Amino acid sequence: MHKHPTADYREPRCEKRPFPSYPVDQPGHRTMKIIATICCVIGVLLAAGCTHPENGITLSVGGAPAELDFWQSLVEQFEAQTNIRVDFLRQPTDTDQRRQGLVVALEAGTSDPDVFLMDVVWIAQFAASGWLAPLDEYAAEDRLDLDTYFSNILNLADRYHEHLIALPVYVDAGLLYYRSDLLDDLGVSHPPATWQQLAAYASRAQNTMIKAQPGFHGFVWQGAQYEGLICNFLEFAGSNGGGIFLQNGKILLNHRANLEALRFMRDLIHRYRLSPPSTYTEMREEQVRETFQQGNALFERNWPYAWPLHQQADSRVRGVTAIAPLPHFPGGQSVSTLGGWHVGISRFSDQKGLAWKLVAFLLSYDTQKQMALKLGWNPGRRDLYSDPEVLRNMPHLKRLEEVFQNARPRPTVPYYTQLSAVLQRYLNAALAGKLEPQAALEAAQKEAQRIVQRYHTNRPARH
Ligand code: GLC
Repeated sequence: MHKHPTADYREPRCEKRPFPSYPVDQPGHRTMKIIATICCVIGVLLAAGCTHPENGITLSVGGAPAELDFWQSLVEQFEAQTNIRVDFLRQPTDTDQRRQGLVVALEAGTSDPDVFLMDVVWIAQFAASGWLAPLDEYAAEDRLDLDTYFSNILNLADRYHEHLIALPVYVDAGLLYYRSDLLDDLGVSHPPATWQQLAAYASRAQNTMIKAQPGFHGFVWQGAQYEGLICNFLEFAGSNGGGIFLQNGKILLNHRANLEALRFMRDLIHRYRLSPPSTYTEMREEQVRETFQQGNALFERNWPYAWPLHQQADSRVRGVTAIAPLPHFPGGQSVSTLGGWHVGISRFSDQKGLAWKLVAFLLSYDTQKQMALKLGWNPGRRDLYSDPEVLRNMPHLKRLEEVFQNARPRPTVPYYTQLSAVLQRYLNAALAGKLEPQAALEAAQKEAQRIVQRYHTNRPARH
């Protein structure tokens, strides 16, 4: 928050509007994306340019509409408890757009937002850019018990040069949702263990259902050109022994296991027709969730946040949805991409003490419990995984603790965003049928190698 010349000076409060969430990747998608990005940027600049009362901070968070309403209620609780005013800056759902909005403010070194949520994959870059305030002293003063958190996640994402620079608000891992009633109808008693089984069940269900519901598809997942596609690709590829291999300044993408996985992803859309063509044009988390929730799919790949929404009163899949680990290729193992959102304080914040109070509130047992119960989010704190009330409401959580402990991270390198942008483009072109999977991986590897090279030429080797 900006400082004011006198304590009683008051500027009118900036009006914060929710960002529109556009259906992207339809015709005109690029234009939409550009407009959405401009909106993010304007939003952040507005926030930054706003003047606020002395005793206040700005929090920047994005997400699905239901999540943002919940955040608003959290902010109100915090204000009532502490008398610290929080301007809540609503960001879009899409992780890439959320990042762009924050980067503009941080590159400009503006003091707002003071506190923000970061996707686990941005933290390395934010830390290397010097945008995150070290939290060690605040944590020590508050006697924050770091053993409460998943140590693998903390070590992977939240420490930089021996400093604590972020803390996990919630952890995400990819899951398979399925319609238990429809599997029963097929006489199938277990969710699919392999992708081939998934395709076989999906095909049988689709053939039956499509007569009454022409929009019905066997399997919906995130294939649009954005970060979610990378998460999905790494699950298909990882469950076949593939992935993004980075070592000693070399990147390996064009790998047999990755090729088989990418072919299978493309075949799900074009050959088996079990996933709709909109998979590569518009399927992001919310589009996928809505399709499944309207009763239009047998299987869905999504994050844990979809669970309570599927159980809402108006959901067509309430009571007939179940969760399982994602399938794997024969001889492979189920892999879930590690996702999740972490909270940090801007190095440019001029209210770091107040900002920490908000961070501590967000990480408290009570707040995290509310997040679990109301949003189905999997807490960053491990002690909630044995809370009786949480377990009563989310019986699947106990099983998920293991999925989170073993979830596969994306590369934690400061240039991850650039790598991801290259991969997003080529993988999406392969899904759209514009490039053969082999050609897509070859080209992606070449371009990605140039990014890795540039980083290693400019800095001493670290990865
Ligand atoms: C979820 C995950 C995040 C991931 C994103 C991709 O929000 O928590 O880590 O990058 O989805 O869409």
